[in-house]
Amino acid sequence: MTPIHTIADLRRALEAERRSGRTIGLVPTMGSLHRGHMTLVDRARAACEIVVVSIFVNPTQFGPGEDLATYPRDLDADLAECRAHGVDVVFAPGVEEIYPEPLATEIDVAPLSTILIGVERPGHFQGVATVVAKLFNIVGPTHAFFGEKDYQQLTVIRRMVRDLSYGIAITGVPTVREEDGLACSSRNQKLVPEDRAAAAVIAKALGEAERLIAAGVRDPGAIVAAVERTIAVEARADIRSVDLRDAETLAMVETIGETPVVVLVTVRFGDVLLIDQRTVAAAPSAKRPAKGETP
Ligand code: PAF
Repeated sequence: MTPIHTIADLRRALEAERRSGRTIGLVPTMGSLHRGHMTLVDRARAACEIVVVSIFVNPTQFGPGEDLATYPRDLDADLAECRAHGVDVVFAPGVEEIYPEPLATEIDVAPLSTILIGVERPGHFQGVATVVAKLFNIVGPTHAFFGEKDYQQLTVIRRMVRDLSYGIAITGVPTVREEDGLACSSRNQKLVPEDRAAAAVIAKALGEAERLIAAGVRDPGAIVAAVERTIAVEARADIRSVDLRDAETLAMVETIGETPVVVLVTVRFGDVLLIDQRTVAAAPSAKRPAKGETP
């Protein structure tokens, strides 16, 4: 398996597979592959006849002053991982191949793109949605696999696929974690050792949120405050946002009820922005009292 760098070569390589009706699973990545990515690949391998991994550090999803230049890149190590996990095709285009000219077309899944992380990173989700749409059009997958860690991204992509009638089955894969609970991320390797140790507090805070909801706390504000308190114990943590939203729509929630919610956290350690999430299905006792029923 050698990497393919051009759209024309990729289309040629997949033509026969597509003609014979084989299932094609795409795992879009920005490289620097870790256990989290390889879990996506394993899911794709189990579900599809052909597995394609794209490796492309997409400049349009990075804002000015963000870490595009220092984003970790190691194509040889990525290829070795892909070979070890039975990937059929690695598509690793250069920026010129994907953006030969400035785009006149952009996909904006609003308002999902402008809330939460979209506030901190304006333009980020427009960049993500547009490049994922391009990858879908280039690869023509039947299935695509994304990590739940990037929960808002997954929600944006699901909505884009629905709105634009892509016939692609989207699978969200649960977050893979390090031993201390820190979500696997390419950015973890940029943490200095003290921040790396401190960052375990994020998973601890999300565990606390889950415990409180299971114990019957129904006030989103109380959950958010508890998460913030837990993280704030770590002096190195710079909390950027903690939100509790409806797990499907990301709409605000007034009272935690019967439908699943998601707690979303972004925390900066030094100049590294980490994100994490926990979806929680409210306990059956969360059922709203029926009319006339005493709560
Ligand atoms: O999650 C990522 O690595 C990127 O946002 C993606 C989906 C590959 C688009 O560039």
